[in-house]
Amino acid sequence: MKFKQHLLIVLAASVSVFGTYSCQQAGKNSTGSEFIPDMAHSTAYEANVLTKYSLNSWDEESVLSRRDLSQPQLPVAGTIPRGFAGSASYNGVYASAEDAVASTMNRMKHSGGIAYTPNGHVPYTYPDTEAGRTLATQQIRYNPFPISADGIARGKELYNIYCGICHGEKADGGGYLVRDNGGKYPAQPANLLDSQFVYSPNGRYFHAIMFGRNAMGGYADKLSFEERWQVIHYIRSLQATAKKVKYSEAANELNAEFGLPMAKVPAPPAADEPAPAENSTGETGHTTTGEQH
Ligand code: HEC
Repeated sequence: MKFKQHLLIVLAASVSVFGTYSCQQAGKNSTGSEFIPDMAHSTAYEANVLTKYSLNSWDEESVLSRRDLSQPQLPVAGTIPRGFAGSASYNGVYASAEDAVASTMNRMKHSGGIAYTPNGHVPYTYPDTEAGRTLATQQIRYNPFPISADGIARGKELYNIYCGICHGEKADGGGYLVRDNGGKYPAQPANLLDSQFVYSPNGRYFHAIMFGRNAMGGYADKLSFEERWQVIHYIRSLQATAKKVKYSEAANELNAEFGLPMAKVPAPPAADEPAPAENSTGETGHTTTGEQH
């Protein structure tokens, strides 16, 4: 009996001590105590949160204090933000076709193989206005992808799905939506074989794909960055066919500005050559991202 009584006293005492301890209230200078705190606090690192907790040890291997480590940090050098290409800026302004292609290929090579995000979104800063269209036409001149048989084949497939229905398989403006509906389609799609389009710089096409024009909607959400450029290559190849000149992997007799044939792409730098400094041209994303052109 005595033993049982003692046990009860010990139990009651520990329950009350434990109870008082676990209910200790938070005060001005204390966070209070919690019952089984592991359930409220993570022992793991939590971004931008400084939690005082004795079992947190994730900062042990750092020379920085836990407080410093808990502050928002700058991204590590060379970080490519989601949705940005290669060196994080695409402004369409290159000095030459060779430069455009070399720069695109370099980005692919030196960014861990991923130059463009899977959906191919690359910032486009020209506004959806007639002034924006004019500016894009003036400034975006060189196709950053070389003319390749594979690219033209992919461009053809995409063109026939997304553009040919209106602009026609030959790009003459006679797609089946216009042709087969007794002229019910409300607007005449541009005849891309017309001289004004054949001699228009690539920017006019890129801008039209981004935003459309009047009765034509935009295709920015249907075609990735690279796909848009391959569609433009394919349109150029249709124009070349109409003009009876070459536009292929081997030669471009239409206009040197429109595309660089694969055969003329400068040899890539030797494998052991160091990567060019990304910001040697001042093209890092943090400085040019928001620029308007
Ligand atoms: C639903 C029909 C339709 C589809 C599909 C379509 N277009 Fe158009 N497109 C038009 C019409 C209509 C115009 C004429 C707009 C105007 O000038 O009013 C036009 C105009 C254009 C122009 C000329 C813009 C300018 O600067 O004058 C280009 C370039 C063009 N389209 C390219 C494309 C490409 C590339 C695709 C496929 C990604 C495409 N279009 C898909 C109907 C279409």
